[in-house]
Amino acid sequence: MQKFDSKYYDNAYSKGGHNDMYKKSYKQSPYFPMWDMIITSWLPRDGIVLDLGCGVGQFAEMISDRRAHLTYVGYDFSKVAIAMAKKKKLSIFRFGFFETDITRMDPEFTIKYSCFVCLEALEHLPGDTDRKLLADLPKGKTIILSVPNYDSAGHYRTFQTLKDVTDRYGEWVDVIEHKIFPTNDKGREIIAVLGTTK
Ligand SMILES: C[S@@+](CC[C@H](N)C(=O)[O-])C[C@H]1O[C@@H](n2cnc3c(N)ncnc32)[C@H](O)[C@@H]1O
Repeated sequence: MQKFDSKYYDNAYSKGGHNDMYKKSYKQSPYFPMWDMIITSWLPRDGIVLDLGCGVGQFAEMISDRRAHLTYVGYDFSKVAIAMAKKKKLSIFRFGFFETDITRMDPEFTIKYSCFVCLEALEHLPGDTDRKLLADLPKGKTIILSVPNYDSAGHYRTFQTLKDVTDRYGEWVDVIEHKIFPTNDKGREIIAVLGTTK
């Protein structure tokens, strides 16, 4: 069995996470400054977003508050995360959350999306499944991803520089812009990237 399988994340989400972060408002999340920049500057005004590894729906809730013309679908393989996301009761006409393993998606189902989001999730995918995920996405779409420079539970890899990101994903992502966000912990940073799938 995979070391960090869906049950591992079910357990982590059931406990609430560090400082109960998964149970709090998105405004109290350590990711808030990055999400704020992404929604303000990178996220398209309209279209359909697929959030790959959406967690408990905090980023979705922020979109719900700030982007009235976006339709959103979130996939995560943790049933606890999906249940917590659904509990937020975001508009059923605009927001859907589905228990899905993003390493086993049928590429046919991703064609209709105009924007892909994958925040703090690629480093959680074992082996080459992160690269295969990006390789299978439809071409010419907006993609917004973020990856950490630090090791932590569930991380299979880290990225110290943008070059590390392009070395691993450059075959499928044309980088338009990137920004680095410090976290609350000294030396720990997150690299956020806006790009186009290719
Ligand atoms: C660090 S969390 C990030 C969650 C969210 N994107 C955020 O930024 O708050 C990583 C997420 O990836 C999900 N995940 C890991 N492997 C997955 C897989 N194979 N399929 C779907 N989701 C997966 C985990 O359940 C977890 O919710």
